[in-house]
Amino acid sequence: MELRKIGVVGCGLMGSGIAEVCARADYEVVVREVNDDLLQKGLDRIRQSLTRAVSRGKTTQEQADQAWAHIHGTLALADFAGCDLVVEAAIENMALKKEIFAELDRILPPHAILASNTSSLCVTEMASVTRRGDKVLGIHFFNPVPVMPLIEFVRTILTSDATMETAQQFGGSLGKTMVTAKDTPGFIVNRLLIPYLLDTVRIYEEGLATREDIDNAIKLGLNHPMGPLTLLDFVGLDTTLFIADAMYEEYKDSRYAAPPLLRRMVLAGHMGRKSGKGFYDYS
Ligand code: 3HC
Repeated sequence: MELRKIGVVGCGLMGSGIAEVCARADYEVVVREVNDDLLQKGLDRIRQSLTRAVSRGKTTQEQADQAWAHIHGTLALADFAGCDLVVEAAIENMALKKEIFAELDRILPPHAILASNTSSLCVTEMASVTRRGDKVLGIHFFNPVPVMPLIEFVRTILTSDATMETAQQFGGSLGKTMVTAKDTPGFIVNRLLIPYLLDTVRIYEEGLATREDIDNAIKLGLNHPMGPLTLLDFVGLDTTLFIADAMYEEYKDSRYAAPPLLRRMVLAGHMGRKSGKGFYDYS
């Protein structure tokens, strides 16, 4: 199936990155937010990222202008009517995602594929509110989307081979490397990342070492781009807690149980970079 027009639901950190990489791959892109303010912020983020790509010599001004011209912001899901594939990147709330999936199922043409960028929620449950379960899958991008080379596909027991083939074609056209996981909480990356991040909070909480020493140990000892506490601040403590809770809810395994400090930091509003304070201070 030829893909021409891509819809992106949500223009937050992930949605704006997904819209940008699709536009840079020459797709027509419709991106939807829930109000003018959030839409403007998301579009500004895309503009800044394109400017940065030009200044770093990753793309030309002409290509950036072309990508920008492909992007159309909207507040109405009805504007997705001509889309061949939609990636939902709304907040991680199952009730909301099911509402979006049910509405998109009514709006989209029969051939269109419906994907979720969820990091941990059940894709089969989203498919269950549509009449196109064979055309539903997870397409999980990583932050920052323009930089991270991976896409994780989440295949449910309903997803067809044809949908997987089209998804592969789509991921390849974005220049990403793809892996496929079954629809289980955390898929591959978060299944391994979340226990690692939770263990980091545990050793920090018990006073094993300073935050700088924990981060340096992993960054320099294992050659990771970021130490785990820096990565927690980067991903967002609230996001990490949400994923951990979703995984614990399903597996009931103590590996996924959030340590008390993580929950208290989130309750205190210390979400990481986005709130200006997490394990480090960004103010
Ligand atoms: N948008 C676009 N480009 C960006 C960017 C952004 N937000 N942030 C950084 N970049 C680009 C820079 O332009 C630069 O490009 P260049 O090499 O061509 O000059 C390159 O990335 C490196 O950036 P910097 O030199 O500014 O900074 P760093 O070298 O520290 O790299 C980083 C920044 C790419 C974020 C790196 O630290 C990294 O890879 N960190 C780990 C990120 C990670 O693990 N992400 C996954 C999180 S988990 C997830 O998303 C799943 C979810 O479900 C939880």
